[in-house]
Amino acid sequence: MERVTIERLGHQGDGIAAGPVYVPGTLPGEVVEGEVDGGVMAQPRIATPSDMRVKPPCRHAKSCGGCQLQHARDDFTAGWKEGVVRQALAAHGIEAEILPCLTSPARSRRRAAFSATRTKKGALAGFHMKRSDVIVPVGGCLLVEPRLASALELVETLASVGASRKSELSVLVTTSATGLDVAVTGGKEADPEMQETLARLCRAHDVARLAWGEDVTLTRRPPIQRMGRAEVVPPPGAFLQATPQGEAALVDGVRAIVGDAAHVVDLFAGCGTFALPLAETARVHAVEGDKAMVAALDKGWRGAEGLRHVTHEARDLFRNPLLVEDLKRFDAAVIDPPRAGAEAQIAELARARVPRIAYVSCNPVTFARDAATLVSAGYRPGPVQPVDQFRWSTHVELVVGFTCDTA
Ligand SMILES: C[S@@+](CC[C@H](N)C(=O)[O-])C[C@H]1O[C@@H](n2cnc3c(N)ncnc32)[C@H](O)[C@@H]1O
Repeated sequence: MERVTIERLGHQGDGIAAGPVYVPGTLPGEVVEGEVDGGVMAQPRIATPSDMRVKPPCRHAKSCGGCQLQHARDDFTAGWKEGVVRQALAAHGIEAEILPCLTSPARSRRRAAFSATRTKKGALAGFHMKRSDVIVPVGGCLLVEPRLASALELVETLASVGASRKSELSVLVTTSATGLDVAVTGGKEADPEMQETLARLCRAHDVARLAWGEDVTLTRRPPIQRMGRAEVVPPPGAFLQATPQGEAALVDGVRAIVGDAAHVVDLFAGCGTFALPLAETARVHAVEGDKAMVAALDKGWRGAEGLRHVTHEARDLFRNPLLVEDLKRFDAAVIDPPRAGAEAQIAELARARVPRIAYVSCNPVTFARDAATLVSAGYRPGPVQPVDQFRWSTHVELVVGFTCDTA
């Protein structure tokens, strides 16, 4: 039995004591006791709890792998996430004002990737248990919108109808303005009989669209997402911001940075989360790697009234970034890359000296690397706005503006 004091939280949310000893479910300052095996105290007894500790609000918190920080006060988690961003920048010698984190409320996630399997008694649906393949049923989950929480019954039925004995279904459920948008992978091939059963299920659960594997099996109503004045029907499984509140915070941040720019390039544009609202005041060129997402953005723009011109391009911005000569014509750029960041594209933006850059990031480490490229090229970061769409997790997003003096 060992007794240790937790010094800090690691990036996975585990407490870390000297050694290092990793202690899940603990907070800085806590004194904990337990067996240590391979540098991990898996079953700690909390001898001295932190005053930041709370009773996890969700009854599944102990077993479910969906949340890592339910045992911490919201203000602790917000401060910790702000610190993660500050430290990532400090590692590159960058100091910037870090604004208070904007955390989405409980029950606001509009999309969830549930797992489901067939069992001897029927089927089981939920999230994976912490560090395990076992599925925990998460009835009453506090993360997701109530419409999503109640979709668990549908997910379970989909597994009993369409999972093979050995495989696990991944069921991505998204709420839309017209009903649930469901995309299933890992299922059996849907023969005509199974397709009929699936159609019956979709009617019973008011599903707008069901995609099974590569195919859209059924569209009862196009699943509409509103982006500014536009109505967009994203391809199944396409990226969307996780909560409406998080999306609004990011769009507001981007709008404030772009300001009155007349011509904006939106890089890694997705289905138009930023491009379409920005088109209310500016001409926009949207660039995105996924052709189907670009087509959805274009259709949304064509169906909307009163927007400025939006052009678009499907392009791999890792291998084939927009070059200095492509970028010179823009007054502002928005860039929202995946977790890997945008090393090649940022280098071109820095060389082109686009006067305002709104950087939206879901990974403080790659963001800080890219920020360092901009700072060395003479850009100044404005205040960094952390945005937490994944409450009770270790994940953090942010939006920040960079400006430079033009020649
Ligand atoms: C974090 S998402 C942001 C999407 C959009 N800005 C939004 O807020 O909805 C990143 C986007 O980058 C796209 N992407 C990933 N790799 C890419 C690449 N190599 N070139 C261009 N786009 C890519 C993804 O398809 C995804 O739409």
